[in-house]
Amino acid sequence: QELQGHVSIILLGATGDLARKYLWQGLFQLYLEEAGKGHTFSFHGAALTPPKQGQQLIDKALQTLSCPEDTAPGHCAKLKDQFLRLTQYRQLKTAEDYQALSRDIEAHVQQEGLWEAGRIFYFSVPPFAYADIARNINSSCRPGPGTWLRVVLEKPFGHDHSSAQQLATELGSYFQEEEMYRVDHYLGKQAVAQILPFREQNRKALDHLWSRHHVERVEIIMKETVDVEGRTSFYEEYGVIRDVLQNHLTEILTLVAMELPLNISDTGAVLQHKLQTFQALRGLQRGSAVVGQYQAYSEQVRRELQKPANFQSLTPTFAGVLVHIDNLRWEGVPFILMSGKALDERVSYVRVLFKNQAYCVQSGKHWATGQSQCLPRQVIFYIGHGDLGSPAVLVSRNLPRLALPADGWKEVEARPGLRLFGHPLSDFYTYSPVRERDAYSTLISHIFHGRKDSFITTENLLASWYFWTPLLDSLALEVPRPYPGGAESGQLLDFGFSGGQLSFSQQQLEQLVSRPGT
Ligand code: BG6
Repeated sequence: QELQGHVSIILLGATGDLARKYLWQGLFQLYLEEAGKGHTFSFHGAALTPPKQGQQLIDKALQTLSCPEDTAPGHCAKLKDQFLRLTQYRQLKTAEDYQALSRDIEAHVQQEGLWEAGRIFYFSVPPFAYADIARNINSSCRPGPGTWLRVVLEKPFGHDHSSAQQLATELGSYFQEEEMYRVDHYLGKQAVAQILPFREQNRKALDHLWSRHHVERVEIIMKETVDVEGRTSFYEEYGVIRDVLQNHLTEILTLVAMELPLNISDTGAVLQHKLQTFQALRGLQRGSAVVGQYQAYSEQVRRELQKPANFQSLTPTFAGVLVHIDNLRWEGVPFILMSGKALDERVSYVRVLFKNQAYCVQSGKHWATGQSQCLPRQVIFYIGHGDLGSPAVLVSRNLPRLALPADGWKEVEARPGLRLFGHPLSDFYTYSPVRERDAYSTLISHIFHGRKDSFITTENLLASWYFWTPLLDSLALEVPRPYPGGAESGQLLDFGFSGGQLSFSQQQLEQLVSRPGT
């Protein structure tokens, strides 16, 4: 077997929440997939915590690693053991610590008679720590010529356009653009990652359908039931628009709306087409958005951040935003982005709803009334949670038959009794991944393979902030509309739009953004 070179992966913030919940598992998964192919690895968990305590913390996190379902238990224990032997904790605090790390990697490679392929530094740390770490890596931890360096960054990437620009400039003084991998974990979710391949696979059939001529509206929805108790110091500064609309939902929007490049494996072309979509977004007005705040929020902030009794937070925990794209393909089609905390259900999906018009004749009868009617025609990328539970792509049966790439997905039988947007699942062709995979495992594998299309470039990041910042500025002094939180939020927060403005009007809402489970 050909030796592929040694890769060192340094997880900064190795004792933190994200590392414990997802990153260690993602690294283990990478090891399982790649170690047999000739690469050798070493994994360094790093943090500011002193060595003994740090090692105990990562040992605890490492106990929860799991193998793929079909691994025999004995074999799984063996694999974990191998991984643990390659993994160690180290304190990274001072410039000397970084120098020592680099020396240790070089010594290890030499002693084992290996050659170094590259180093990955995963920043799972708050952004205020970025600059110091970046400086130390750049001055002490760059691998030698012919090897690669990749740094992985987690959001928040700034607070608005100017702070994002400042952070980008600072990072740009230490790293080349191609060395930086900015994570948006929604891009690693299976249904999201399926948007472009699905469009590509159905390029001919969709070319005309996927446009203002046939699309009524697009809904990009991420509803959460959790509130932000315990996280208010972060949330108070960011709010829902910065936390998820500026990144997750906007990324999804660009995947749905961008022009398809000739070849979707051409990363440069994908990123370029995304950027062009940003450039066609119509500027947001204050009236493009509805913002809300769950009622217990201000009280949680007062308690957690020791604010005075009359403190009223202005941070929105819910937002519905109406977006238009001023290009030939999408002129006039509403894209509705919506997300909130403490809502009535947890579900995320993208729903492309087609106009009925000429297709009514073929649409058949209503499932309940038996009357002839226009059944809605839709494509749904069901990201997760909610009634379906797992990721899926659903295509109305009254659309032309569309295909899914066979790779890793399969058509599944509709589960009887379940409804989506008022319709039995048997109204849809339903496709699911053969094997469910966590977003972070996918992204870590992409980083390892140097696949940049599932990450955020500096240009795209700034284009997104450029789009969102004026709305954020205009909302800065407004008290968001209160909503109760929990089960009752659904009705109060469904929203509609008319005359280009979003509103809470109950009757518009009947026709818009219906709930998936109804
Ligand atoms: C994160 C946000 O990016 O995404 C959180 O900071 C949010 O507020 C989370 O809860 C949702 O991710 P997922 O994968 O649980 O849907």
